[in-house]
Amino acid sequence: MAGPAIENLFREGRSFPPPPEFTAQANAADPAIYEQAEADWQGWWASQAERLRWFKTWDTVLEWKAPHAKWFLGGRLNVSDNCLDRHVDDGQGDQVAYHWEAESGERRTITYAQLKDEVCRFANGLKRLGVSRGDRVAIYLPMIPELPVAMLACARIGAIHSVVFAGFSSQALVDRIDDADARAVITADGAYRKGSVIPLKQSADTAMDNTDRVRTCVVVRRTGEDIDFTDGRDHWYHDIIADESAECPPEPMDAEDVLYILYTSGTTGKPKGIVHTTGGYLTQVAATQRLVFDLKPDTDVYWCAADIGWVTGHSYIVYGPLANRATSVLYEGAPDHPGRDRFWEIVERYRVTILYTAPTAIRSFMKWGPDLPAAHDMTSLRLLGSVGEPINPEAWMWYAEHIGGRRCPVVDTWWQTETGAIMITPLPGLTATKPGSAMRSFPGIKAVVVDEQGQAVEPGGGGYLTLQRPWPGMLRTLWGDDERYRLTYWSRFGEDVYFAGDGAKLDEDGHVWLLGRVDDVMNVSGHRISTTEVESALVDHPAVAEAAVSGRKDEMTGQAIAAFVTLRGDRQGDERLASELRQHVAERIGKIARPANILFTPDLPKTRSGKIMRRLLKDIAEGRELGDVTTLANSDIVSELKQRSTAATEGE
Ligand code: WTA
Repeated sequence: MAGPAIENLFREGRSFPPPPEFTAQANAADPAIYEQAEADWQGWWASQAERLRWFKTWDTVLEWKAPHAKWFLGGRLNVSDNCLDRHVDDGQGDQVAYHWEAESGERRTITYAQLKDEVCRFANGLKRLGVSRGDRVAIYLPMIPELPVAMLACARIGAIHSVVFAGFSSQALVDRIDDADARAVITADGAYRKGSVIPLKQSADTAMDNTDRVRTCVVVRRTGEDIDFTDGRDHWYHDIIADESAECPPEPMDAEDVLYILYTSGTTGKPKGIVHTTGGYLTQVAATQRLVFDLKPDTDVYWCAADIGWVTGHSYIVYGPLANRATSVLYEGAPDHPGRDRFWEIVERYRVTILYTAPTAIRSFMKWGPDLPAAHDMTSLRLLGSVGEPINPEAWMWYAEHIGGRRCPVVDTWWQTETGAIMITPLPGLTATKPGSAMRSFPGIKAVVVDEQGQAVEPGGGGYLTLQRPWPGMLRTLWGDDERYRLTYWSRFGEDVYFAGDGAKLDEDGHVWLLGRVDDVMNVSGHRISTTEVESALVDHPAVAEAAVSGRKDEMTGQAIAAFVTLRGDRQGDERLASELRQHVAERIGKIARPANILFTPDLPKTRSGKIMRRLLKDIAEGRELGDVTTLANSDIVSELKQRSTAATEGE
């Protein structure tokens, strides 16, 4: 559909009601679900928790001492028991848990019974290596079946996993190992990306050389590269599991025991260790998986195309789908390898029914053109999801039309690493969706858009997104830094109001439209990166005196990173130094954090108190008209910067 036609749709305020056939079979088909949940939200969540298997039921649904919540107090359960044993005990052991497909085309099918056996073997192996309940285990693996196996094995014995995205650098790994005091690391010899090998073990070695915490390292053989092996510390994964029994009783965990830590960027250079616990988290990921994705374990083939290294993969590739006995696709690689129709080939091969991906991917597909999906049989698809950043209405429409064949409801789901699970979303059998809107709070959730003073805005108004009631999947604290937890999330509007850091507006019907971050967090291809983190990485280079970083709008990636750099002494900036700096940032953080542009400047615009004017830099990076800059300490630099920026863009 062409641009102007889409424009008209919005002018008419058009929305897309769910197809009646969809509603007729939907897991959430009765609109009363919203009122029921509202009438007794704690009771409603308890009814969701009852769908799991508990060794012991809870005594108290919720204890809320703002800003600290405890859910299902006194309850005991094990996440891996719920994701594996429960289904095998139900006689469903032969059902496929994962269709794994390597980038190279290699395939593996893993049933629930097989997954349970392997998890038990590895859990026993971890125990033998000295990992016990409460210990932290860093997992640094690519998208191979051993990644969910490792997470579930930790969950089985009550160890706390901290998954570090395999695209992150050794520095990022060492920071996370140190912060969580992880004693064990699980990694692979290498990883494949677009046909080439990434030396993962080498990165892990560099990380382990820079900390003395790690006692044990387990290495999965993936690429067969030659690697260094440190005797006593390093062990092959295949050796570990070969000797172990496939019986490993799941450890009964308290509902509030920590399941995992996942680091995410905050507004300072130091990533935040988001802490998720057991019972509440599993309750909310399971409920949202079933109701938002309308998952039918007997018939669906579900595919979340994220990486498990991010929260989307934790909740909607591992825990949500497995808790619901889903059959999922697990894909190792890139969407354009070897061809740009790789996704559609996969959809066709496995007859995927539910697809969950990010707007940035959808925009790439748009650019690559509708002929690629059209060349494949995509009629198996019945539901589409989007996550990670605001989806622009054009991308939404294109997705619905060219991927969903106009049959599939599209659910735009808003949530965060901190929320653990989906918070604002349509329910596909009930909601008349509007392209570009995440619509409304999931049952039991209370999302409120407020103004500067914290007052709820009326329909038609805009402001900050808040959550005004605890929810089961919420983060419990930041690992080792409860003060930062309070300050970051619970100080702006009071200690019982969660500040999400996102701007939002309500339309005339009261539906929620997300507007992006309101803090110094950038969103590049759906990945959170803090401006300060990139600035620290740049300043860490010997040639750099000072750096300021800002996100600027980018058609494909949502935002791109623009860096303004001043050099030491009389060093001159050139293209060679710019690429050296990009490489340096990749080494400090990871490739995803590389600035798209680096602009060398003799000075940065500052206020008289010496604060860098980031908003002004953003305006420059986005080519906007600048307001009054005469209050700056060094206003002459602004026009100079503007000229350089324009010259750089024209030179692209
Ligand atoms: C953004 C990813 C608009 C938002 C699950 C949030 C979204 C941050 C959406 C969290 C959406 C995520 N619409 N914005 N549907 N989903 N975001 O922690 O800015 O990686 O605060 O969690 O992504 O990113 P995170």
